[in-house]
This record gives sequence, C-alpha cells and structure tokens, in this order.
Amino acid sequence: MQSELELNLETRTDYTFKYNKNLGRHGWLRLTPAYSVKLVKEIIKKDCANGSHILDPFAGTSTTGLVSAELGYDSSLFDINPFLVWLGNTKCKNFSEDDLSNLLEEVNEAIENVALEEPSWVPPIYNIQRWWHDETLQVLSSMRAQLSIRFLEPGNNYCHNLVWIAFSRLIIETSSAAFNHTSMSFKEDLISYEFNHIKNLFKEILNHIISSCRTNLSGTAEVHLKDSRDLSALELSVDTVITSPPYPNRMSYIRELRPYMYWAKFLNNANDASVLDWSAIGGTWGTATSNLKTWKPLNDNLPPVLYTACEMIKNSEDKNASLMSLYVHKYFDDMYEHIKNLKPILKSGAKLNYIIGNSSFYGIFVHSDLILSQIFTSLGYENVSVDIIRKRNTKKGLLEFNVRACYA
Ligand SMILES: C[S@@+](CC[C@H](N)C(=O)[O-])C[C@H]1O[C@@H](n2cnc3c(N)ncnc32)[C@H](O)[C@@H]1O
Repeated sequence: MQSELELNLETRTDYTFKYNKNLGRHGWLRLTPAYSVKLVKEIIKKDCANGSHILDPFAGTSTTGLVSAELGYDSSLFDINPFLVWLGNTKCKNFSEDDLSNLLEEVNEAIENVALEEPSWVPPIYNIQRWWHDETLQVLSSMRAQLSIRFLEPGNNYCHNLVWIAFSRLIIETSSAAFNHTSMSFKEDLISYEFNHIKNLFKEILNHIISSCRTNLSGTAEVHLKDSRDLSALELSVDTVITSPPYPNRMSYIRELRPYMYWAKFLNNANDASVLDWSAIGGTWGTATSNLKTWKPLNDNLPPVLYTACEMIKNSEDKNASLMSLYVHKYFDDMYEHIKNLKPILKSGAKLNYIIGNSSFYGIFVHSDLILSQIFTSLGYENVSVDIIRKRNTKKGLLEFNVRACYA
C-alpha cells in the first residue's frame, strides 16, 4: 500500500532535467540526473541576498552556475569529471557578437569542405557498432577530422569549444542512444543517416547553440576540477550552497557520458573510464565494483540508521548483497568527508541545500534524507530540515528531497 503522502505526490517533471530542454544554454547537452532550472531559481529566491556567492560542489552540467549567472549572482562550482568542467566553463561564458558571427562563417566553410573518407579516427568505445551505423560513423569521423584542422581540440578556447559542443550533440542525435529511462539505453534499430542530413543537422545545432550565446550573463560562474571530499587550501567564502550530489543508486555518470567523452577525447580507454568512475562518489562501473571489496571506511561515527540499513542489505539473500552493503556504506562515508571538509569555505550563516534521492536495495530502503540530515547535525550544522520535492518514478517510495541546513 502506498502511503497517503505518496499518493498526493507527483513525479513533477518540471523539477527534472526535462524542464531545461528548451531553455537556451541549459538544453545544449543532456545529463539525466541534471536538476531543473525552476528548482534552482526557487532556492535562490528563498536563500540568496544581493551579492551572495553561490557554491555547487557537484556541478554536473552546471545548472546551478548558469542559473546563478543568469540572475546576476557569482558562483563557484566543482566537479570531478573533466568533461563536465569543460562543458560548464563554456556554458557560462559571455561571447562577443563578432566572435560568434566569425565562428558561424568559419564552421559553415569547414563543413562544406568535408569529404567523405574512410574513417581516419573513431573513438575507442566498446562495441561502437551498437552506437552508430557504419555509414553514419564514416560521416562523423570525416567531419571530426575536418573540424579539427580548423578548430582547436576541446580546451580553453571557449569559442572553438562551441563547435565541439555542437559536435557532441550531433553524435548523440545520430546514435542509437535512447533516453526514455532513468539512464541511457539503446534503441532497437541503427539508422544510417545521409551525409547531407548530418551536415545540415550539425549546422542547425550550431545555429541553436550560437543563438543561445547571444544572451549575456550578468553574473560569473567558474567551474573547477576538484574532488569535493577534499576542499583544503581553497580561498573561497560561500553564502549559499545549492547542489545535487550523486544519489546512492548505482547510477554511473561516466557510463552516461561516455559517448561525449570519447569523441571529445576526454577518455581514451576503458581503464581510464573505470578509474574516473571509482574516484566519483557513488561510482559503480567497471573495476569500481571490485575495488569495493577491499575498501575501508574513513569514519566510524556515521549515523546508526546507516549501519542498520547496511547490515540489513548485507543479510539479504542476493549474491551481491555484501557488495551493495559496502557500496551504500562508502557512499555515505564519502558524503561525510565532503560535509566535514566544506566548513572552512562557508561564511557564518551560510545556507545549504542538498537535493538528494533515497534508494532501495532488495526492498530495503536507504533513507538518504534522514542519513544526510543526521550527518549535518552530528557535524554541528544547525536548522536541519527536509523538504520533499517529488516522487521520482512509479517505483514505490522513491522520492527526491531537499535536505537543508545552516552553518552557524
Ligand atoms: C547529480 S550530478 C549533478 C547534476 C547537476 N545538478 C546538473 O544539474 O547537471 C552529480 C555530479 O557529482 C559529480 N561528482 C561525483 N563525485 C564527486 C566528487 N568527489 N567531487 C566532485 N564532484 C563529484 C559527478 O561527476 C556528477 O557530475
């Protein structure tokens, strides 16, 4: 039986990434766990005074940074994934009209010069034939080769980066990736797109990206490559934290982002992907799973409700029960490190918002909202409270919360 509270809750897609699709820069590239512009705006309205400095320690696609900059606030963001740091910094820059018009002209010229060649380079993605039809792959590879003659590879040239963001969008639009689940899956059929269709699609995407860059941002957002568990030696003074860390639900950001990351050369092999996933909180892909077997916690004072949940998961009958118990334990041990090490960069009175989901393993609920609240309290934060935001999907009991706290 569903509780009355749950029956009244809705899935509220206006509080998910779906809301951002048609909102200019926010819609450039999708990441399923991105949260909604609307939610961030509501929190800023509630928690930020004029001149507040905003922090998002788990930037993802930099929704927080972009919304803050659109509303005239300055912000700092961290992420452990270099592709997302690159994307976020490009997304939150201002561009001059001259630079944008020149870029458009240069790209159109470059695209007209693309000749269909045998693929010179294709990314070393496992089972690439599952992603793109051979003929589509040939066009994409020829286009990439031509673009890389004219434009610097993804890096610090923000104007050139727009070309690579358009190309990233192109590879997804022409792939068999399907986004009708909570994470990415594959469509049944591979489609072979014609050369001209792909060229026109690319131009259309670039036009869309360039026109969204014509709106100037009045605040600034800087995204840094940083592990949010280790924030030592940072010169920062934060008024408001607005963030959505990974959830303890075994979702892998690297798995979801790998087509972009391989094509943009942020990933070169499966081993790099595994190492990056293991370094992320909640990482669960490739060798991350076997690394868990030898993992030891850094803290022995986490909330008792966590230890109880881990024990129950461990004692369930599934063959992976011990591993899943360790997975959940490590997730909260990592979050504890983050929340503890965050303090030196918070101003007194800083307000914190952590958007987080609960999860369930073999029917045993991991009450992330409760565990996180207790971590905040045990670390001396004040006014800890939980707002329920929405029901995540049809699976009973899976909700999303805003865990709020104040740094005294
Ligand atoms: C749920 S996503 C954030 C989504 C974001 N709110 C958005 O709108 O796109 C969580 C992010 O945390 C990052 N992350 C995981 N572990 C991290 C760590 N130790 N330090 C910094 N970032 C980390 C992941 O790479 C991922 O981008």
